[in-house]
Amino acid sequence: MEQFEIIVPTLFGLESFVSREVRRLGLETTSVEDGRVTFKGGWRDVCRANINIRTGERVLIKTAEFTAKSFDELFEKTKAVDWERWLPKDCAFPVKGHCLKSQLASGRDCQAIIKKAVADRLSQKYGIEWLPEDGALYQLQFSIIKDRVTLMIDTSGEPLHKRGYRRVSNLAPLRETIAAAMVTMSYWKFEYPLCDPFCGSGTIPIEAAMFKRNIAPGLNRSFACDSFEQITSAMREAAYDEAKSFERNTPLDITAIDIDSSTVEIAKENARLAGVDDAVKPIVGDAVKFMSDKPYGTIICNPPYGERLGTEKESRELYKKIGKSFSKLDKWSYYILTSCEDFEDLFGRKASKKRKIYNGMLKCNIYQYFGERPPKM
Ligand SMILES: C[S@@+](CC[C@H](N)C(=O)[O-])C[C@H]1O[C@@H](n2cnc3c(N)ncnc32)[C@H](O)[C@@H]1O
Repeated sequence: MEQFEIIVPTLFGLESFVSREVRRLGLETTSVEDGRVTFKGGWRDVCRANINIRTGERVLIKTAEFTAKSFDELFEKTKAVDWERWLPKDCAFPVKGHCLKSQLASGRDCQAIIKKAVADRLSQKYGIEWLPEDGALYQLQFSIIKDRVTLMIDTSGEPLHKRGYRRVSNLAPLRETIAAAMVTMSYWKFEYPLCDPFCGSGTIPIEAAMFKRNIAPGLNRSFACDSFEQITSAMREAAYDEAKSFERNTPLDITAIDIDSSTVEIAKENARLAGVDDAVKPIVGDAVKFMSDKPYGTIICNPPYGERLGTEKESRELYKKIGKSFSKLDKWSYYILTSCEDFEDLFGRKASKKRKIYNGMLKCNIYQYFGERPPKM
């Protein structure tokens, strides 16, 4: 079977989650760097990765990697790549990418050079002067970091965090990939309750239900590679069937709370679209008043941080209040994402563990507070 390198770009801080997911698919990672995980696979694995990966941003095929310090070098080395192996005669192949800390500093110029080099190569190989570009979309991507050029083909189209269930969202929705990572890192056991007391559009509760039920995140959407000539319908169907075969109907007790009633309606609709409305119960309430008489539960949330919702002063007051109320929950664990640097002081307790991640450009921490371990069932 034809094998090549596949790259999954990630938000900074989520690399180890993606790497674990790749290995769980039975694939071998070849490198884990800042913001990208690379592994070996074939076309079938491109389908599987797109459908199954929860914490990565896209699935890209690596077509070449080389050093280039001048436009000539970039052109010649790009033209030397066997593009006819990847790109059919009629495909559309727009180019986009970025340069960082490199002698080739203009992304726009590099984009034009790469486009010209690929077009020259294809014209020569296919023996046609004019490439129609009216077929399937093969989006080319490049990155030039410290003079190292990586050329890639995007197989996802819309980024992987667009699962298809969040057609409506509140003002500051959390990216699904981060929500999935928070759920994955938690020690939440499905026999015990889970609550997001700042649920917004319901991303964390929905991702939690999908994760525990092994519902693959990409089953309800399409991918750019669906129209690639290398991907057969049998390949795609096999990947869907495999993902469906892992699903299980685990009973779950997940509460999603928000103070805003219209936001709760959004969370309900999203849970329905994701097919987990029997597991996720969205209700209107104040996080500060959240109580439960069940032990060993887990809270996973991203409370407002001031930057996008409310003021910083209000957020800081809220953190003090939840610090007091959460500590009344018997043997519960909490996982709280915020960009507030002195969160622990306000919350009133040092976290058991902290994990830095970037929510876009915003540096955040996931403050993890481990409760007592539940007894073995
Ligand atoms: C940063 S957003 C959460 C986003 C959410 N994770 C999502 O993916 O959509 C914070 C949410 O907390 C809610 N909120 C603010 N204060 C609250 C409180 N005291 N109790 C419950 N919810 C509150 C806001 O209405 C907002 O929806």
